[in-house]
Amino acid sequence: MKKIIFSGVQPTGNLHLGNYLGAIKNFVKLNNDDNNNCIFCVVDLHAITTKQIPKELKENTLETIATFIACGIDPKKSILFNQSQVPAHSETAWILSCVARMGWLNRMTQFKEKAGKDKEKASIGLYSYPVLMAADILLYDASHVPVGDDQKQHLELCRDIAQKFNKDFNVEEFFKVPEPLIQKEFSRIMSLKDGQKKMSKSELSDLSRINLTDTKDQIVNKIKKAKTDTLPMPSSIDELRKRPEVNNLIGIYSSLSEESLEKIINTFSGKNFSEFKDFLSQLLVDCLDPISNEIKKLKDDKEYLNQILSDGSKKANEIASKKIKKIHEIVGF
Ligand code: TYM
Repeated sequence: MKKIIFSGVQPTGNLHLGNYLGAIKNFVKLNNDDNNNCIFCVVDLHAITTKQIPKELKENTLETIATFIACGIDPKKSILFNQSQVPAHSETAWILSCVARMGWLNRMTQFKEKAGKDKEKASIGLYSYPVLMAADILLYDASHVPVGDDQKQHLELCRDIAQKFNKDFNVEEFFKVPEPLIQKEFSRIMSLKDGQKKMSKSELSDLSRINLTDTKDQIVNKIKKAKTDTLPMPSSIDELRKRPEVNNLIGIYSSLSEESLEKIINTFSGKNFSEFKDFLSQLLVDCLDPISNEIKKLKDDKEYLNQILSDGSKKANEIASKKIKKIHEIVGF
């Protein structure tokens, strides 16, 4: 039996190094393994939980698909589609929102962070966002969900919702309880300006992140300006862990080169930061330049990207419509 892998990315523009190292790089590995059936979704319904400009949303949806392909996901092997084209997602989300408890959602830290101080003004969609995410995953009987560390709590909620539905309706194992796939190390890439803050699309300063479409010069400049401290490069892992910005930069180096932290520390121990930063910039350029060129090329071929979305949505609808039919029977519709 093949494993079913499901994950999603919001089409809110500026996909960055955190998205790549925390999630998309892993999607590519999973896509390349013939033991998996992979489904990767551009979650446009999630995107509208915060204000979007319709024309830009459309562009960003295509750009996200272009990014998946540019990073190495094969649209012939994996199903690539956008969430809004499969109505079962919204419908299942409603049904699951009648299973999920307010107390569970009240604990979600991402809502607290995103809603900020004025949570009365946040959309209801932003609050119930993790329920829609559970619907995405459960509709496809996904066994594994590759995500960055920031989505861990949402996946725990998804597991709770699946188990409660199965218990409430006495349908043992109807919804498969999914396992998160989160990298052990550096599953949360931090801002280049603050090692305590997640690298994020919504951060105001563009210098805080490396976008997957950045040019060589932009990458070099951002790494040059990345925050470090006044000490030389660390000489042990214990020392590294106490220096968040340095930990993040060495973590990025390690994730990209797939070299161990020990080896990197041994190579650069005691040296100046500028020397390490030169190597890191080069590594980033070598990895991201081909991706960014491919994104630009693919973005010009809208017909191709739209065809992939249309084929993917057809395949996703076939799977999801069978599952929602069964949900209807179970619930009593
Ligand atoms: P989104 O669009 O915010 O992010 C997409 C993926 O990138 C990961 N990520 C990071 N990983 C490491 N370091 C970072 N700084 C960083 N920033 C983002 C995220 O963990 C995510 O894996 N709720 C999801 C989308 C979603 C989804 C789903 C995911 C909707 N339905 C079903 C899995 C399954 C989100 O907002 O991702």
